[in-house]
Amino acid sequence: MSAEQKKPPMISVQDLWKSFGDNHVLTGIDLDIEEGSTCVILGGSGSGKTVLMKHMIGLLKPDRGTVIVDGEDIVPMDDRDLERVRRKFGMVFQGAALFDSMTVYENVSFALREHSNLSEEEIRAKVREKLAIVGLRDIEERYPAELSGGMRKRVGLARAIVLDPKIVLYDEPTTGLDPITTDYVDDMIVTAKAELHVTQVVISHDIASSFKVADKVAFLFKGKIVAEGPSQELRHNPHPDLQHFLQMWFAKGE
Ligand SMILES: Nc1ncnc2c1ncn2[C@@H]1O[C@H](COP(=O)(O)OP(=O)(O)O)[C@@H](O)[C@H]1O
Ligand SMILES: [Mg+2]
Repeated sequence: MSAEQKKPPMISVQDLWKSFGDNHVLTGIDLDIEEGSTCVILGGSGSGKTVLMKHMIGLLKPDRGTVIVDGEDIVPMDDRDLERVRRKFGMVFQGAALFDSMTVYENVSFALREHSNLSEEEIRAKVREKLAIVGLRDIEERYPAELSGGMRKRVGLARAIVLDPKIVLYDEPTTGLDPITTDYVDDMIVTAKAELHVTQVVISHDIASSFKVADKVAFLFKGKIVAEGPSQELRHNPHPDLQHFLQMWFAKGE
């Protein structure tokens, strides 16, 4: 056997179906996300991106299909096992979802207090380390309202990685941001992969951002991944719905 034998994917979604009443949101999703890569799930508003992501952390149960995370099928799991699997994930939500009444230090250290027995000194060191990874320092005592939008996103990432997750999920990280802040957040996502060696899943409808941060872009359309590949290849994928989506985007001048 060759030494180059391929590792199994960190996340593998197989033939995943999910409807809400008559709304058939996912109709046979197949998607593999390689360990240590950044995969962007690209799709229009309401196409089912967040629903797909919720299946990856077991917040939704599919009507049919398999979701393998780090070697385990999470679909049949009960809450206790799901809780354990969810510890492998860090989540960066739309908006930064920081607690406004808490300082940066309190926000980032929150999960450590809940889930570890570290001393205050160890917590302080860990918070400083995570803030440094996202490129921030000396802001522990500030409140979210005192930070720029981009800095808040970075604090949100520091908070998401404080328990050393294997996988980081970002739901629409650049939606609603101005172009400069969008660049700043894109850089953050690229740096996070390099520094943390994590697997990243980014949900986005922003084509320019997706192409910048992704190792692989997967295009979700009418319940299926209809095209996928590295940014440059995907751009030239002839799938008509993908090409239409790309043209609409570039026509908007974004
Ligand atoms: N818990 C739910 N109950 C019923 N319908 C839902 C639920 N969550 C999402 N949907 C529907 O699923 C579709 C996809 O939603 P979503 O995944 O949030 O889209 P997006 O791609 O914008 O993230 C939408 O039509 C939405 O109304
Ligand atoms: Mg969404």
